Amino acid sequence: MQHNNVLILDFGSQYTQLIARRVRELNIYCEIHPYNKIPKNLEIYKAVILSGSPNSVRGEAVLHPDLKHIRGKKPLLAVCYGAQYLAHFSGGEVAPSNTREYGRANLSYIKEKEDFFYNIYTGSQVWMSHSDTIKHLPENGVLLASTEDVENAAFKIEGEQTYAIQFHPEVYHSKDGKQLLENFLVQIAKVEQDWTPQSFVEETVENLQEKLGNDRVVLGLSGGVDSSVAAMLLHKAIGKNLYCIFVNNGLLRKNEYQDVLDQYQHMGLNVKGVDASARFLDALAGLSDPEEKRKAIGRVFIEVFDDEAHEISDVKWLAQGTIYPDVIESVSATGGPSATIKSHHNVGGLPDFMKLKIVEPLKALFKDEVRRVGASMDMDKNLLGRHPFPGPGLAIRILGDITAEKVRILQEVDAVFIGNLKKWNLYDSVWQAGAILLPVNSVGVMGDERTYEKCVALRAVESTDGMTADWVNLPYEFLQKTSNEIINKVKGVNRVVYDISSKPPATIEWE
Ligand code: XMP
Repeated sequence: MQHNNVLILDFGSQYTQLIARRVRELNIYCEIHPYNKIPKNLEIYKAVILSGSPNSVRGEAVLHPDLKHIRGKKPLLAVCYGAQYLAHFSGGEVAPSNTREYGRANLSYIKEKEDFFYNIYTGSQVWMSHSDTIKHLPENGVLLASTEDVENAAFKIEGEQTYAIQFHPEVYHSKDGKQLLENFLVQIAKVEQDWTPQSFVEETVENLQEKLGNDRVVLGLSGGVDSSVAAMLLHKAIGKNLYCIFVNNGLLRKNEYQDVLDQYQHMGLNVKGVDASARFLDALAGLSDPEEKRKAIGRVFIEVFDDEAHEISDVKWLAQGTIYPDVIESVSATGGPSATIKSHHNVGGLPDFMKLKIVEPLKALFKDEVRRVGASMDMDKNLLGRHPFPGPGLAIRILGDITAEKVRILQEVDAVFIGNLKKWNLYDSVWQAGAILLPVNSVGVMGDERTYEKCVALRAVESTDGMTADWVNLPYEFLQKTSNEIINKVKGVNRVVYDISSKPPATIEWE
């Protein structure tokens, strides 16, 4: 089954993934490729979108794709830098803006109300983010829309299906952005809206059956959404030939190992639980550096997983829950690799000794699509709605060295916090939450006794992808009750604080 497909050429804009998400929301499949690596098999793409960019067409580092097989041959929508690129290299003029052109603007003039601007009216709010502006349209350019400050806010090229807009239709603040993308893709480019969770499931199951035949596949379940949905798809495709392994590293949430294992068994998965808590705790003994802790956990995980995989005879494939944002090749404005902030941000390879072929059924999906695919397979809402939880678990929420007692304390605290978020119906409106055990003792008083005990921090953030995040304004009453409950119930804790830092400059995890 071949889907309609849209090609997005990325010039390094922070919004490129948003374009793809909006297009997918229209039930249209699309792929992001770097502007300088245009796929050879262009015939599979029904339309092309050029993204914005932090670069300028007037600067030294002009990003200069070769569009000769695209322009005039396929419907083309150029956004922001893409629009300036079209203007600059086709006889128009791009110059620095005189006025600030960031943020909200309104369309004050619109042409082509029948197709490109169908259902979009004068006054419609659009979002601008550019410091160059198009002074003169390119050859055969026809003005389609203006705002008060930006005359050439949208244009097309006469005789081609080429459209260009200075604003960003992909951001939510461009109120009619989705409509505009739909007008371009559906009305003008005639792309069919045939990409749905159901069609994805059917197609993927079929492909997996063809690819895997009678082979055995091993998959590491983490309790998270991605690995669970990947497992379910494979289960549908190959049933008992999928061998799932769920490792307890002793750093999961309270009761999580048993609860999640039960849930997996209930889903019919062929899953083996392996309690390796002691092995992980041994490896962590005495380590307090966050990266060393991560490495130790990664190493032991591979050892445990490898031991278990060897128990399955004749296994050929390793399945992973990799999702699209992990595989999109990013365009770097400076040309260099970005700095390593935390080691998990590098997508790691397979250790040599595992020698298995890799299958990644979710590689084309964004996180919200993974959830929708899971829902279309009737997976449990609680499982699909779970907050992200880091692979190294509570180890990176216990600052400094780790002991079984510290894990116990943090599990108790976390259970009160998360339990209360659920009780207050706040869990689903928070993107991620957890508790952090600080390496300080502070003085308190309980009854007539002086105490000198641990301090914990609570963290709850809103985010869409974990790349940026803000702390959540939880109700005071909730914080008050939760703090009381933690101090009263959890032996060893006498102080609770709430983290009010955004990312950046802080990160979500403390380590
Ligand atoms: P930071 O702390 O970098 O976290 O703002 C962003 C997201 O990544 C998760 N995270 C990890 N996930 N292994 C993982 O699998 C890790 O080592 C790790 N460190 C952070 C974090 O929970 C948040 O969702």
